[in-house]
Amino acid sequence: MIKNQWYAVLDSKEVKKDKLTGVTRLSEKLVFWRDAKGEVHCIFDKCCHRGASLSVGKLVDDHVECPFHGFRYDSKGKVNYIPANGKQAKVPEQFKVNAYIVREAYGFIWLWYSDENADIPEIPFFEDLKEGFSYGGFSETWNVHYTRAIENQLDVVHLPFVHKTTIGRGDSKLVNGPVVKWDDNLMTFYVKNEMDKGQTPLKPNEILDYEKLFSLQFQMPNTWQNIISDKVRILAAFVPIDEENTHIYLRFYQSFMKAPGLKQLINASSKIMNRVILHQDRSVVLTQLPIKTELDMGEKLIQGDLPILEYRKKRAELKQ
Ligand code: FES
Ligand SMILES: [Fe+2]
Repeated sequence: MIKNQWYAVLDSKEVKKDKLTGVTRLSEKLVFWRDAKGEVHCIFDKCCHRGASLSVGKLVDDHVECPFHGFRYDSKGKVNYIPANGKQAKVPEQFKVNAYIVREAYGFIWLWYSDENADIPEIPFFEDLKEGFSYGGFSETWNVHYTRAIENQLDVVHLPFVHKTTIGRGDSKLVNGPVVKWDDNLMTFYVKNEMDKGQTPLKPNEILDYEKLFSLQFQMPNTWQNIISDKVRILAAFVPIDEENTHIYLRFYQSFMKAPGLKQLINASSKIMNRVILHQDRSVVLTQLPIKTELDMGEKLIQGDLPILEYRKKRAELKQ
């Protein structure tokens, strides 16, 4: 995992009022909840007393009560009430668990994954999706490291094979470029796949009018968008559960239909096709070995794999 990053970790809707939500994210057992004001909090999901899972306890006055012996935790992860010791007893300082910095934005819960809590940057999100779009979506878990799930969405070579019946129709097997541009931790890659008529694929620097091409973006560390048009996007968040599992949130964003009811209908029905496409990917990605990728791992990459290579380099750089 790359430190000092905001990770999208949950859909906003998954954290409800008056309820604890226990999930594993970034290899940590976590419990999330909303306080009376609706603000989201997150602490480690293992009681410091004798290890019970706090997420199967309950919320009492904005505090998490452990189901085993009733220790109560505040949003800083501090125990401030031990029933067996009586209401008057002072709780020693060391009775606490980790508390995490979390925020809600753009329909996701984001977690600041770091040892440092100073100078926290803004949550990175695709500028053009911040306003004017509505969305519908679904999520599912894949048994792969998140790097494999991400790289699949940076892979422009697989389209006519994996998606022959859907988005890869047309036999465009020859891959020019692709062109990759970075703006800080945001990668934009431009795709120019075409039918093989005996031509030599263009090198990335030979594609001069790349800005007119179809493009996609990946925002480190875990969000991606497919820019289908000004008004239609597919967004994905690849949420690390642990070293072997990833939860994928896939959303259809559109800004052409604003009428309530109709817009929900369009956004919801997009799920059907998107699920078909995602499962075409899943059928192959789950077979890839090893399930986690690194910059130096002995894979024989080709020119068309440039976005994947660029992602691996950026990841290695940010991990240092
Ligand atoms: S294990 Fe949580 S209060 Fe005892
Ligand atoms: Fe795909």
